[in-house]
Amino acid sequence: MIPLTLAQIAEITGGELRGDPAAVVTGEVVIDSRRAGPGGLFAAVAGEHADGHDFASAAVAAGAVAVLATRPVPVPSVLVGDVPAALAALAKFAIDALPAVAIAGITGSSGKTTTKDVAAQLVERLGPTIAPAGSFNNEFGHPLTVLRADAATRYLVLELSARGPGHIAYLCRVAPPRYGVVLNVGHAHAGEFGGLDQVARAKGELVEALPADGAAILNADDSRVLAMAARTAARVVTFGVDDRNALIRAADVRLDDLGRPSFTLLTPEGQAGVTLRLHGAHNVPDAVAAAALARELGLGLADIADGLCAAVARSRWRMEVRHREYGVAVINDAYNANPESVRAALQALRHLAQDGRGFAILGHMAELGDTSRASHEDIGEFAAQSELAGLIAVGEEAVPILAGARRVRSWTGEALAVPDGTAALDALANQLKPGDVVLVKASRAAHLEGVAAELLISNGGATRPPVPPGEGAAR
Ligand SMILES: Nc1ncnc2c1ncn2[C@@H]1O[C@H](COP(=O)(O)OP(=O)(O)OP(=O)(O)O)[C@@H](O)[C@H]1O
Ligand SMILES: [Mg+2]
Repeated sequence: MIPLTLAQIAEITGGELRGDPAAVVTGEVVIDSRRAGPGGLFAAVAGEHADGHDFASAAVAAGAVAVLATRPVPVPSVLVGDVPAALAALAKFAIDALPAVAIAGITGSSGKTTTKDVAAQLVERLGPTIAPAGSFNNEFGHPLTVLRADAATRYLVLELSARGPGHIAYLCRVAPPRYGVVLNVGHAHAGEFGGLDQVARAKGELVEALPADGAAILNADDSRVLAMAARTAARVVTFGVDDRNALIRAADVRLDDLGRPSFTLLTPEGQAGVTLRLHGAHNVPDAVAAAALARELGLGLADIADGLCAAVARSRWRMEVRHREYGVAVINDAYNANPESVRAALQALRHLAQDGRGFAILGHMAELGDTSRASHEDIGEFAAQSELAGLIAVGEEAVPILAGARRVRSWTGEALAVPDGTAALDALANQLKPGDVVLVKASRAAHLEGVAAELLISNGGATRPPVPPGEGAAR
């Protein structure tokens, strides 16, 4: 955070100052009062379960200099009409004061966080980098991340999300990116957008925001993404796996026993072998996108390849593979779910379970709109075609998955609908054998991550850490 006095904060946000105008904010700006610390600023927002204003005093007691609030609080504050707008104004002011920072934005329907985390681990090799933890990608998380930049920062690697038209354009006005990565156009939130073409419209706002001396880094394997080349003034850099014309490409993709991909990274500067520590082939385009971004920022091929091999999953519950005693593996991919990411996870499950049986505990995929039922049925069909031994649908909205599975006449696996995660655990109790693999996946609202954690400890099995990278034969 660049130091700002309360007087400056009031002026930038158009707010009313209730406190010492000369007091200086030097620490982090946070919206979670438990994270408030010395020198920081606490932004009070009303959430689903709690109202931040109730924690204003606690935040100041923890060291926050003041509170950004929409109603009076009994501690030093700046009263504003709208907290996200105030955060955006502060972030814009702060980043404009740091012209040496190169700003990169990453968007797409699936894989933003994965790509952002891998890209950050590459870009950190070039210099001080700020990237959000987890999915800080909306009108709250985005400005909070931008505000973490200071005079030492050289790179900002941001995740940009949209739930409707104009959202990404808004985030790009807060922190104008010079580099923009678009991963894919898929069905995440497609119901809210009204269809894939509308999703493409919205995601493409990122490349529309890029300057002529910037770079639009586009997935050549996704026609809707590639078409965004016509919407940008920036130079276009393509990446991909299948498209042989992509500038930065992964070829010869193989998976080891645990589904970790190895591939040859092809670039204009030469090629290099890469083995990822991430599980599932779907991480390959994400990794190549991260490589393309790091290359634009000036990282050399050897460092890119080395960095990709070293990169770990920094954010939780995305394809976490853990083993419990007796050789049962659990894939915790419970962070979120949409049709593309469920298919990707089922493919990884099939690969991991090739020497045993595969089970999937699937909750519903949220926000799919009119196509929701059909999408769930299609996922069930795909799951059955993946030859799972068992498919457990958790919750009412996930039941159509089973109807889809039954469309596959040749499927001999077991299908079961259960009301909640506990019932799913009961259904699997005492069933699992060495070599079995269980995937747990659902939209965030289903909170199935606890089921994955429970699976690792149930039946009295002690957990053991995942096999270190490098082990396991490549397939
Ligand atoms: N390229 C991809 N194609 C399909 N699925 C993917 C891809 N990359 C990641 N995933 C899967 O999508 C899910 C979400 O991954 P991640 O958190 O990286 O995406 P995100 O775009 O940040 O999601 P959110 O919109 O929830 O922030 C995970 O299950 C992950 O394994
Ligand atoms: Mg995310």
